[in-house]
Amino acid sequence: YVIGIDLGTSAVKILLVDQLGEVVRSVSKSFALIQEKTGYSEQNPQDWVEGTTAGLFDLLSGWNGRAEDIEGISFSGQMHGLVLLDENNDVLRPAILWNDTRTTAECQQIYDAIGEARLLEITKNPALEGFTLPKLLWVKEHEPEIYSRAKAFVLPKDYLRYKMTGQLQMEYSDAAGTLLLDISKKEWSTEICSLLEIDPSLCPPLVYSHEEVGTVKMDYAEITGLSPATRVFAGGADNACGAIGSGILDDGKTLCSIGTSGVVLSYEASDDKDFEGKVHYFNHAAPDVFYTMGVTLAAGYSLTWFKDVFAADESFEDLLADIHSVPAGSNGLLFTPYLVGERTPHADAAIRASFIGMDASHQRKDFARAVLEGITFSLNESIDIFRRSGKEIDTIVSIGGGARNEDWLQMQADIFNAKIVRLNSEQGPGMGAAMLAAFGCGWFATLKDCADQFLKEDRQFQPISSNVETYKKLFAIYQDVYG
Ligand code: XUL
Repeated sequence: YVIGIDLGTSAVKILLVDQLGEVVRSVSKSFALIQEKTGYSEQNPQDWVEGTTAGLFDLLSGWNGRAEDIEGISFSGQMHGLVLLDENNDVLRPAILWNDTRTTAECQQIYDAIGEARLLEITKNPALEGFTLPKLLWVKEHEPEIYSRAKAFVLPKDYLRYKMTGQLQMEYSDAAGTLLLDISKKEWSTEICSLLEIDPSLCPPLVYSHEEVGTVKMDYAEITGLSPATRVFAGGADNACGAIGSGILDDGKTLCSIGTSGVVLSYEASDDKDFEGKVHYFNHAAPDVFYTMGVTLAAGYSLTWFKDVFAADESFEDLLADIHSVPAGSNGLLFTPYLVGERTPHADAAIRASFIGMDASHQRKDFARAVLEGITFSLNESIDIFRRSGKEIDTIVSIGGGARNEDWLQMQADIFNAKIVRLNSEQGPGMGAAMLAAFGCGWFATLKDCADQFLKEDRQFQPISSNVETYKKLFAIYQDVYG
C-alpha cells in the first residue's frame, strides 16, 4: 500500500491506495481560512498538522491491515503559501496563502529590481500577488522583527512533511511557484535573491518529487499508528499532482481541475516555449518535464460562496438539481467569477465579480447555472491562450468539484469545445501523491506505467454543436465585461 496526502485549502484528504490503484480507505479533515481584511487569506500551519495527524489516525485505526504493509507516503499541497520558520523550525506567523492578494506593491518592487523580461527569463512567470516571493517581501517590509528571526521558508506540504520526518526540503514543482527558482537550471536564483536582498540561506534544499526524503519519525509513528519504516517521498504541487493523478504525462494531454481555485493545465515536454507569461509555466512533479497552466482564483469558491449566501441549508446537489432545465446561456444572465480578483488572463487583484442582465423572470436556478457558466468561461480564457499559441486541445480530463455534476461536465464540453473525459476514480491530487509514492517505491519503471495501471476512463462528454455556437457568442460578451 501507499498513502497520498492532499493538503488543500479547505481540507486535507488522505488516501490509502493498493497496488492496483484502488482507494482502499480515505478520510478528510477540514480547516478554516483566516480572512482578517479584504484580500488577506491565511491559515495556521498547526491546523494542517493536527488535521493530518488526526486523519492518519482515523485512516489507520479503522483499517484491518498492517501499518508495516504501507510502503510509502507522499504529498500534494496547495501551492505558493508562505510558511516562515525560525532557527528551531517553529512557525513564525500564520501562513500567507496562494489566494491572498495583499502584495500588489511587492510585485511592482520585483519588476523594478529585476525587470519584467529578466524575471520571465529566469522564472518563466510574471510577478503575481499569489506567488511566494511577494509574500516574503511583504513580511520583510511590514513585519521586520518577524522577518529578522526567519531562518527558512517552506511551502504548506513541505511543513507537513517536515513534521513527519524532521527533515526540511522543497521540491521542484512547488519551488517553481515561489518566483525564486531558475526553472531551467532547477536551482534557486542567486540573482533574484541578491537584487531583492534576500538571504539565499532562507531557501531550503531542493529535491525531486519522487525522491525519498526520510522515514516517519518515531514519535509521529506513535501518535498516528504509522510504521516508522514507511518511506516518505517529497511530493508535489497540487496542480502537478492533480495532473499526475489524471494521467497528464505526455504531449497533448490537458486537465481541467476545479477546486477552490480552478485550473486548466497542459503538459509540456520542454521549457523552451514562449507564452509571454500569460499562463504559468512550471516544473512538473514528473521528473524533468513541465506544464503550463491558467488559474481562475474563485472557481469552486464562487459556487461555495453562492450556496453559502443564497442556499446555506441545502446541499450542492439540491442547489444544482434543476439547472438542467435552464438553457445554455442562463436566459441572458451572465456571471463573472472575480470574487477575489482574477489571475488568468487579467492578473488583477482589484477586479470584483458581477451578475449582468438580471431580469424579473430569473429564478434561482438561472443564477446557479450562470455561476457555473461564468466559472467555465473564465477557465476557457486559459484554453483560448493555449489554442492561440498553437496548442491542439481536443480532449480534456476533468477532475475536482467540477467533475461531480454531469450538467457541468456537458457545459465544459460545450464551452471548451472539446471532448471531456471523466475518470473512474477522480481523486486527482491525492491520487497523484499516492502515485509519486508508488513510483518512488519502485513499483513502476515510470509514472506513465503507474498511470496506465491506476487510472481508468469512466465517461466521455462530447460537445453539442448548438450549445457550442451559443457559448461562442456569449464568451465574446464575457470577455468584454472585464474591460
Ligand atoms: C496555482 C494556485 C492554486 C493553488 C490551489 O497557481 O494558486 O491553484 O495551487 O491550491
